[in-house]
Amino acid sequence: MIKYIVFCVTLVICLVKAVVLNPHIIVPNESTVWKAGGTFDVKWDTIVYGSPIAPEVNGTIKLGYLDGTDINEHLFWTLASGFPLNTGSQSVVLPTDLVTKASYIIVLMGDSGNSSPQFTIEAN
Ligand SMILES: *[C@@H]1O[C@H](CO)[C@@H](O)[C@H](O)[C@H]1NC(C)=O
Ligand SMILES: *[C@@H]1O[C@H](CO)[C@@H](O)[C@H](O)[C@H]1NC(C)=O
Repeated sequence: MIKYIVFCVTLVICLVKAVVLNPHIIVPNESTVWKAGGTFDVKWDTIVYGSPIAPEVNGTIKLGYLDGTDINEHLFWTLASGFPLNTGSQSVVLPTDLVTKASYIIVLMGDSGNSSPQFTIEAN
């Protein structure tokens, strides 16, 4: 029982840290619906852990999707890289051949990574 409680507390602390230390993605989110082949802005918070993101940190944006309980994020598409992370947004062009799913995710990587909630992309 004690072991179980310690495990849970440790897990919660790790989850909170992971969220706090990475830029929070504002768009896309649960209510986002994008269209394959379209151009959209990915947006995120530029204040991380109470401080602005340093100007020399570059970012990478990847697109993936979740599939049931599979932990694989299927990050097959790199949508942007080598842009400054402190601007808070980056325009991306979606591949034209994406199939309709409500479980796409965007992963934003600086010196560490963070993923968006699952959102929808509709096929062309
Ligand atoms: C969610 O994303 C949409 C764009 O898809 C944006 O207009 C909206 O402001 C976002 N919601 C929140 C709570 O940031
Ligand atoms: C960030 O990207 C810019 C422009 O592509 C490049 O000049 C710079 O060296 C990169 N910075 C780092 C830390 O990789």
